[in-house]
Amino acid sequence: MDDRDRELYEQAVAISTRAYAPYSNFHVGAVLRARDGTIFEGVNVENAAYPLGVCGEKSAYVAAVTAGYKPGDFDLIAITASPCGGCRQWHVEFGVDRVIYANNEGELVEHAPAELLPDTFEL
Ligand code: THU
Repeated sequence: MDDRDRELYEQAVAISTRAYAPYSNFHVGAVLRARDGTIFEGVNVENAAYPLGVCGEKSAYVAAVTAGYKPGDFDLIAITASPCGGCRQWHVEFGVDRVIYANNEGELVEHAPAELLPDTFEL
């Protein structure tokens, strides 16, 4: 993890204030970097029908796909929280090289998606 990676994490912290999380009050920011250097931001967006809410990481991937990017195009995603189980499946799907996040102890850690979700489901 280098200074540029840490800057991406700080950007995720900064944008987490934009999260719409009135139910959990748990604000998540995610910043996704494509191999060409393009940055995509995402925050969690909740809904009164709780299961309809969207995680910050998913928002970032959706923004990237909407802009024309594809699985394999990403080298790093920085997240302000430990990714949930479902988002770990998304990290695997999009083939991001590295996932950086603040773990439950508040330490900045880095893992490959396969470390976060071993023996991943494949269709
Ligand atoms: N959340 C994320 O945005 N990403 C994760 O990986 C963990 C959970 C959000 C979903 C919900 O809006 C809030 O955090 C509490 O679960």
